[in-house]
Order: sequence, then structure tokens, then C-alpha cells
Amino acid sequence: RTVYLNGEYLPEAEAKVSIFDRGFVMADGVYEVTSVLDGKLLDFPGHLTRLSRSLAELGMGNPHSDAEWLEIHRQLVARNEIVEGIVYLQVTRGNPGDRDFAYPPEGTPQTVVLFTQSKPGLAANPQAQTGLKVVSVEDLRWSRRDIKTVQLLYPSMAKMEAKARGADDAWLVEDGFVTEGTSNNTYIVKNGTIITRQLSTDILHGITRASLLRFAAEAQMKIEERPFTIEEAQSADEAFFTSASAFVLPVVEIDGAKVGGAKVGPVATRLRELYLEESL
Ligand code: PDD
Repeated sequence: RTVYLNGEYLPEAEAKVSIFDRGFVMADGVYEVTSVLDGKLLDFPGHLTRLSRSLAELGMGNPHSDAEWLEIHRQLVARNEIVEGIVYLQVTRGNPGDRDFAYPPEGTPQTVVLFTQSKPGLAANPQAQTGLKVVSVEDLRWSRRDIKTVQLLYPSMAKMEAKARGADDAWLVEDGFVTEGTSNNTYIVKNGTIITRQLSTDILHGITRASLLRFAAEAQMKIEERPFTIEEAQSADEAFFTSASAFVLPVVEIDGAKVGGAKVGPVATRLRELYLEESL
């Protein structure tokens, strides 16, 4: 695989980063994941806008222009012959020297890493037909979930707990309400209305979420942005989640309770079709 590191395209084995990098010792960095279908990037401008915002929120500059980011993504997709898959992008604060809680001086080079992962069958994911099982796990992440940082330990722990409990993923719960999934935004459907938590610092502002809500509104579907509980989700007609790598995937069981008779519902199915049609 050819990867990108600080201005160079390299074989992955030759891409080396300092052990002092703040991304490594302090999780001081941000990332984006953009999906690729038919060799094309999905929702790319949205991912770049969020990247800029994440960097700015952490007091970091953006090392590339939008045109440069696009060129790097296109090069990696072409060089690795990605038809279906993802491009992962990470920017950390770098650090040439000793470990220190204080940031390194202004002008210290950031570490920029991009790589691809080929995922044949991404669009034809059979889970879109069968649905997934989720369990609820307390949301113990920090309070700035709107920043897409590389601090992913708690989401990993929650995912492992879900697997140990026989489920596919965890829905995180804070003060009795679902915030989001470990790596996705969450929704329920009741009497034809799509319900999803409103944007705040409590959740990541999903790029797939933004596009999906726009397409749903254009299709005259009803949308309510508000928090919901696990109990409300269990008695909903449908449940589903969105992310760049999953698009729209239905949930048919929550904490052992079947949702919508454990069958994938028409709204989630329609929204997945709509997202794939409209964003390609
Ligand atoms: N995860 N919420 C969280 C906590 C996420 O990590 C993600 C994305 C989302 C969905 O955002 P988007 O639609 O922009 O992908 C919501 C990515 C895909 C990941 O970590 O792999």
C-alpha cells in the first residue's frame, strides 16, 4: 500500500513517525474518514469543512488548502486502485522534542498521515438487509465530542463491551438519553417521523447525518431533532445509524428487545438508497 506522510507518497513500511509525536503520547490530533465508492470520494467538502473546524478548536492550523487535500486523496485512491473503501486522514500537533503538557512552539511542523483501506462490498453490505444488534453503554467520553480527535479509547472499550455482550455495537447513553453510537450517529423512526439528537458539543456533527437530513427533508420526510431514551428506541418502529463508512445501517435489536419486529424497516431502507443515489 502507498501511504502519504508529510508531503511524500511512500510504501507503508517506509512511513515512520517520531515516538515523541503528540499524536502518539497525548492523542493530540484530529482525523477524518471519507468513503470511496466507484473510485469517487463521498461528501468530501463536508469532511474538509469539519477538519478545519476540528483543527481550529484545538488551536492548530490547517496544513493544506482544500485543493491540496483533494489532490492527496485522489492520488491515494488512484495509486492504491481503491474502488470501494475509505481514505483515513490524520493531523497531529507533531513534536520534535521532549514530552511536555505545554504545546510545542508555534510553527512546529504537524504530522500529516493519510492512508486508504480497500473495502470491497461496502455499498452492498449484507447488514443493510439483516440489521444489527446494539446494547447501551454509559457514555464516559470527554465533553467535546464535536471535535473529531484521535482519542478513541472509550469508543473502543464500548465496542468491545458490545461484542462481549453478543451485539455488534454500543449506543452511548448520558443522563438517560442516547448521545450517539461508538462511531456513528443514531436515529429512531416513529409514525414516519425521523428522530435524531440535535447538534451540540455532546455528539460529533456527522457529515453523513447532515447530508441524510437534507435528502430526507427534500423528500418531504418529517424530522425531529431531539434526544431520545433507550426505552423510546426499543418501542420505535425503526432504528438506524449513519457514518461515512456505514452510510445508513438498520438496528433491529436494542438491549435484547426487538425493534420493529426485528425486521429492517422501510424508512431506513429508503434512506440508505437515497443517500447512495444522491451522494454519488
Ligand atoms: N466515525 N459519531 C462518532 C463518534 C463518529 O466517530 C463518527 C464517524 C460519526 C459519524 O460521522 P460521519 O458521518 O461524518 O462519518 C458520528 C468514523 C467513520 C470512524 O471513526 O471511523
